[in-house]
Amino acid sequence: MSDSLLDLYREVILDHNRDPRNFGELDDADRVVEGVNPLCGDRMTLYVKKDKDGKIEDVCFTGSGCAISVASASLMTERIKGLTNDEALELFELVHDVLTGEQEPDPVRLDKLAALAGVRQYPSRIKCASLGWHALKTALTTTDAKISTE
Ligand code: FES
Repeated sequence: MSDSLLDLYREVILDHNRDPRNFGELDDADRVVEGVNPLCGDRMTLYVKKDKDGKIEDVCFTGSGCAISVASASLMTERIKGLTNDEALELFELVHDVLTGEQEPDPVRLDKLAALAGVRQYPSRIKCASLGWHALKTALTTTDAKISTE
């Protein structure tokens, strides 16, 4: 992995952990999903509200996970507002493949999310980075209220 991608990783994780975007509850959410990382017991709750056309109108999260889980969820919420279900799920698959090393990060498609590829240097933290994303997939594809990254 290039030094510049690792620098971006550190910079973005620090920024989004220090100042998480869209952090808080959403009173009028259509879907509320709690995610848990069984490796550490950390929990995160994701709130999703759709507009009349089925696009993600608003999304927020709460929780007290590690810096990587908070930063990754923060980046996710920043990116998925305005997306359709299919677009958000496509992004989930792309991020999933990048986190697990199945795909190299494409800076054009991923933009700031490319920084998440840095987590591959720390395999035990991949579940941290994917916690919010798995909650998103659950919110968009099921009626479940809980997920585990196990
Ligand atoms: Fe618990 Fe990262 S250590 S989510």
